[in-house]
Amino acid sequence: MHNAITTDIAFCQQLLKDNQLVAIPTETVYGLAANAFDEVAVSKIFEMKGRPLFNPLIVHIHDIAQLQELATDIPDKAMQLAKEFWPGALTLILPKRDTVPAIITGGKPTVGVRMPNHKLTLELLKGLPFPLAAPSANPFTKVSPTSAQHVAHYFGDRIPAILDGGPCEVGLESTIVGFEGENSIVYRKGGISIEAIEAVAGKVTLITENETAPQAPGMLLKHYSPRTPLIISNDIQTSIEINTHKRIGILSFYSDAFLGAEIIKVLSPTRNLEEAAKTLFATLHELDTLNLDLIIAERFPEEGLGSSINDRLFRAQN
Ligand code: TXA
Ligand code: MG
Repeated sequence: MHNAITTDIAFCQQLLKDNQLVAIPTETVYGLAANAFDEVAVSKIFEMKGRPLFNPLIVHIHDIAQLQELATDIPDKAMQLAKEFWPGALTLILPKRDTVPAIITGGKPTVGVRMPNHKLTLELLKGLPFPLAAPSANPFTKVSPTSAQHVAHYFGDRIPAILDGGPCEVGLESTIVGFEGENSIVYRKGGISIEAIEAVAGKVTLITENETAPQAPGMLLKHYSPRTPLIISNDIQTSIEINTHKRIGILSFYSDAFLGAEIIKVLSPTRNLEEAAKTLFATLHELDTLNLDLIIAERFPEEGLGSSINDRLFRAQN
């Protein structure tokens, strides 16, 4: 089942040129990539993920100059953010050029673009005559993959190749920023904190979840979901006591001092939010394999990446 995992970049480039799908490592999560300018190749992504066609995809580039072939009327603030954070966990929503296929943008007049910060994928992109469209490499609404093994677990050898770049360094999807006049709008909290974005772009507007008409599917209320029921708690010990007779897994920020759980997973004993973000999804994947009755996740401090982690936990509740 795992024979699709490879480190052969030339092999992956050839597959992509042949309009096949390749799973690619990034610093945020693994992506399911195809030639952004080939509608047939891109349609395979939607099919494999079971993703509704109205959900637009992010286009991945390796050079800021490529923005010109994808977007037009790029605001100054967008350029400032790109220069500050690329390559990195930031996606910019920009007015699209006519040449960008509608299947990528879900028929919207804008396109999402990002330069990922991963050595293998930057090398892969440099050897291709086109940018790569890539959503996270998970079935629609499931927890995003942060290792090649997670991708293989989801799709097995239905993907011709999974480029193995090791575990993701950031572990949360990119922060998505768009622009309306002078305003910067955050559509998805992610691997770069709001505080860091605001230090460059000034005050931003947060457009929070909207279940019926999401601007971004990452905003769908139910998303990032494990199979096991998950609740968020401000007081883990009390939540355990309310749920006696259940096999409980704990997802805790820094403490393991709880009684009555089957398993306790601590994301960062030193209370470091970056470290916690890095292993959040891998830990959810792992807890989800244990046939637990309930996952109790601790609410994180609402600052820096803690705010992005809370966002994902909130959507993972089921
Ligand atoms: O970190 C990431 O962003 C990862 C890696 C692989 O780059 N990709 C990722 O893709 O998370 P995906 O498809 O799972 O999430 C992309 C999000 C969706 O919520 C989508 O709606 C939003 O980006 N998006 C893309 N283009 C957009 C547009 N033109 N307007 C509004 N939202 C857009
Ligand atoms: Mg996704």
